[in-house]
Amino acid sequence: MNFSLTEEQELIQQAARDFAQNDLFPEVIERDEAQRFPKEEVRKMGELGFLGMMVDPKYGGSGLDTLSYVLVMEELSKVDASSSVIVSVNNSLVCWGLETYGTEEQKEKYLTRLSTGEIIGAFCLSEPEAGSDATSQKTTAIDKGDHYVINGTKNWITNGSSAEVYLVIAQTDKDKKHKGINALIVEKGAEGFEIGPKENKLGIRGSDTHSLIFNDVKVPKKNRIGDDGFGFKFAMKTLAGGRIGIAAQALGIAAGAYELALKYSKERKAFGTEISNHQAIAFKLADMHTQIEAARHLVYKAAWDKDNGNDYDLSGAMAKLYASQVAMETTVEAVQIHGGNGFVKDYHVERLMRDAKITQIYEGTSEIQKIVISRSILKR
Ligand code: CAA
Repeated sequence: MNFSLTEEQELIQQAARDFAQNDLFPEVIERDEAQRFPKEEVRKMGELGFLGMMVDPKYGGSGLDTLSYVLVMEELSKVDASSSVIVSVNNSLVCWGLETYGTEEQKEKYLTRLSTGEIIGAFCLSEPEAGSDATSQKTTAIDKGDHYVINGTKNWITNGSSAEVYLVIAQTDKDKKHKGINALIVEKGAEGFEIGPKENKLGIRGSDTHSLIFNDVKVPKKNRIGDDGFGFKFAMKTLAGGRIGIAAQALGIAAGAYELALKYSKERKAFGTEISNHQAIAFKLADMHTQIEAARHLVYKAAWDKDNGNDYDLSGAMAKLYASQVAMETTVEAVQIHGGNGFVKDYHVERLMRDAKITQIYEGTSEIQKIVISRSILKR
């Protein structure tokens, strides 16, 4: 076993830390309040290679390992989870899915631009009645010979209006249930493709989340990813890696809140001494530190599994389940340590607490992670 990062991984981690402090931090409160998408920041992240981190350089990517991606996600999420979810969806769900299962033509046309951040992508699986129960797709993609025709609505889509390329999961043959589902690449501006209103959210308010409406949208067959009926497996395989990215996001949110609480506890005085000298506060910090370190081990292990060709469905689900729980608990305690100041936006911890909640919901709720984990351990 080796718990050390390589020199390259340390440099990438430092680059992400510097970017988060210098570029994400200054306007993070304003973006959250105004629900403003970090357009300029996303452009810079593209330049830094954060949007196609694991993609082969021949398709414009950075050619790095999953652990490097996790380190970047962690550092960005300490400061701004709205920005890190954009990174996560583009890397794990869009670029990875296309690089792993796309045709050479699809990679040339889409991946090369997605991995450099010239454009960003969205992953469209959830529906009003198919969130956790993802096989119950109501959106249809009817086979018309050389093209499909898509009809239906997708919900809660990250990068909903800012994406240029959408990976849409839809039912082609209802009788075949999940084996009749396809994944199709839809371009922004396709006739009949409408972007619904922006959701007004509790957290990650800087990311743009929309419903998407498809009215007789024609998609050429060459835009299908994988063989006919591969769409559901495509979604499951892609989400298995996506969960490592969201686990890293949860870890970063927890670590960011902990670092703020630790600093504050050494500055703020009560009863004649810094509050960190009170055991009530010191024990909270001890619990937070221990839980974050445990979450970090699970997240890095899941990344290591993926990089070493091991199965990562189980380790990714455990990492997401635990890290998101730690994010929620740690951010609540960070607000508590800050007392009245914690309830005020200027101190950042209330935003981190609001941002933490989504990590227990998207890319599979905590309950779905328990389904994945229990099925995996019981089949052994
Ligand atoms: N890898 C490969 N195949 C998989 C798989 C995996 N990880 N998980 C399931 N499958 C396959 C199964 O083997 C099965 O195929 P066969 O019939 O050929 O054996 C098929 O998929 C159906 O599997 P199940 O019978 O297990 O299906 P189920 O209905 O019981 O559901 C589930 C399984 C795990 C609950 C799944 O529905 C699920 O993951 N739900 C949650 C969906 C989710 O995560 N949504 C997030 C939306 S995306 C998002 O949030 C992005 C964003 O914007 C941030």
